[in-house]
Amino acid sequence: MMTPNHMMVMQQVKQQLNKEDLSVVEGLNAICETLNKKLESYDWVGFYFSDFKDKMLHLKTYSGTPTEHTSIPFGKGICGQVALSNENFLVPDVTAQDNYIACSVDVRSELVVPLFLEGENIGQIDIDSKTLNPFTKEDEVFLTELCSLVSSTYGKSLKQL
Ligand code: SME
Repeated sequence: MMTPNHMMVMQQVKQQLNKEDLSVVEGLNAICETLNKKLESYDWVGFYFSDFKDKMLHLKTYSGTPTEHTSIPFGKGICGQVALSNENFLVPDVTAQDNYIACSVDVRSELVVPLFLEGENIGQIDIDSKTLNPFTKEDEVFLTELCSLVSSTYGKSLKQL
């Protein structure tokens, strides 16, 4: 289940993605900005996509404080682990994680949800929060649905970013 607030944001995102004059990156960027602005605790929102040749994730768009970590090897950090596990990774408290890459000292928690295209994990949405333990199962449902909306809207062009 999503909360009424999640549903409202989802509706807004759908309207944004229907604007035909937006490129894929502009559409993804609009999503990042909307989530960052409308959802409390979503203090940094970004999309990483996989390059399977060099086994790296690359940051394609984000909203929030700029990060040095625009390229992350598979297996490294929360994001790199999700590239390999194909599963959501909810981190209520980042200080409890050994394999974690700090983007900012203010970040307390993180939620990463993989983005599948035709069953393949091709990228992910990454949410950082300055609040301790803010994310719920409903956030996971919301972000899973959002990722499937992105993949059904943009399809194979997501692999050429
Ligand atoms: N914390 C992430 C790195 C990306 S930043 O959050 C933007 C990780 O451990 O993979």
